[in-house]
Amino acid sequence: MKRLVLVLAVLFATSAFAATAPKDAKVLEAKQGNVTFKHDTHAKVACEKCHGPGEAKAIGKMGKEKAHALCQACHKAEAKGPTKCAECHKK
Ligand code: HEC
Ligand code: HEC
Ligand code: HEC
Repeated sequence: MKRLVLVLAVLFATSAFAATAPKDAKVLEAKQGNVTFKHDTHAKVACEKCHGPGEAKAIGKMGKEKAHALCQACHKAEAKGPTKCAECHKK
């Protein structure tokens, strides 16, 4: 019985956070030129890294400071993904 409760608890805990990321590209509006974000190319990054703890839902307007600190910093650190303005911001 104890074991069953434990198994159920584990199943419940994982399913609560096992949401799948949207397949379609997300367009983040910016004066500099809109930025297209794809979950597909970021499948290795934990949801929490961008969405924070709990269920991942729409972030909305991120703002320059937060977005650059999150997106650009990782691309620089991993030497992968765009780091130049025009590679992200498309007019
Ligand atoms: C590298 C950052 C990043 C990661 C990692 C990430 N997301 Fe997102 N996610 C975004 C951005 C940016 C948006 C679009 C902006 C917004 O939410 O309005 C978004 C949007 C979403 C939305 C809202 C979609 C809509 O149409 O309103 C959901 C749901 C979502 N993500 C789920 C996930 C899940 C589940 C994971 C993990 C499997 C995940 N995301 C991982 C950055 C990320
Ligand atoms: C924790 C690391 C990490 C974070 C955070 C991250 N990225 Fe990336 N990004 C990557 C990596 C790694 C690649 C290269 C993927 C590849 O080439 O397969 C990449 C590639 C990209 C690309 C080029 C490929 C494509 O999808 O068109 C764009 C655009 C991009 N990222 C935008 C963003 C934006 C916008 C954010 C913030 C909302 C963000 N990234 C946050 C790691 C990250
Ligand atoms: C890795 C992708 C990426 C790179 C590289 C990047 N940006 Fe951004 N930038 C973003 C994202 C994402 C946002 C936030 C959009 C939002 O608020 O939802 C943003 C926001 C901005 C904003 C605020 C726009 C507004 O309407 O609020 C400005 C201005 C800006 N960036 C300029 C630049 C400049 C200049 C460079 C080069 C020095 C640059 N960005 C490089 C992704 C990037």
